Amino acid sequence: MSIRFSPEEFEKLKRLLHVYEWGQRTLLTKLNIIQEDFKTFQETSPIEYIKGRIKAPESIAKKLHKNHIDLTADNVRVHLNDVAGIRIICSFAKDIHYLVDLLRAMPDVNILDERDYITSPKPSGYRSYHVIMEVPVFYSGKTESVTIEVQLRTEAMNFWASLEHKARYKYHDHIPQHLCDELVVCADKIAELDHRMFTIHEIISLINQ
Ligand code: GTP
Ligand code: MG
Repeated sequence: MSIRFSPEEFEKLKRLLHVYEWGQRTLLTKLNIIQEDFKTFQETSPIEYIKGRIKAPESIAKKLHKNHIDLTADNVRVHLNDVAGIRIICSFAKDIHYLVDLLRAMPDVNILDERDYITSPKPSGYRSYHVIMEVPVFYSGKTESVTIEVQLRTEAMNFWASLEHKARYKYHDHIPQHLCDELVVCADKIAELDHRMFTIHEIISLINQ
């Protein structure tokens, strides 16, 4: 199986990626409003920053190929749910479940799946909360929905995930055992650090009151 889209499928994919981008922009606007509301009318915001990315066609091809799926635009839509991704970096781990409640309450968008890797971290040590959302896009006189993977994590969890991702890439997914062990230790320490920072934050909030 080739790991390149045929010219015809690639044209279809390029069109599809526009729809993903429109869906992502729709959701980013909704999230930016939530963040601005916090910043403007509340004392603190649980959201540090939000960013989005669209998966590159080469990465899309690689992922389909890895999963033994034919490289067609239809298969991208059916089999991948992280073509459009949004990352919400939160101040404290405790804020994450609260923010997920807000995502659940959002009108016009659906939640298709949730994975709580904060309550149950992955064996690698990975922590984040993943929500797969379905966002409708109205264009050419019809509505089409796209899925978007929203990852919620703290800055410390993000720091860990970036480094572990780099290690995974360098070692072609086979990180030596001693480094895996060290990464698990670091992930646990980061969770403890997040918790201690939250305690300090709570003490400061009490003083302000
Ligand atoms: P993927 O095929 O990787 O998308 O896995 P999945 O569809 O089973 O979903 P999962 O929730 O496991 O992971 C989705 C995304 O979360 C990945 O694409 C990564 O961005 C991130 N992720 C999951 N596990 C890890 C991990 O152990 N380390 C790092 N750095 N990121 C992870
Ligand atoms: Mg995925």
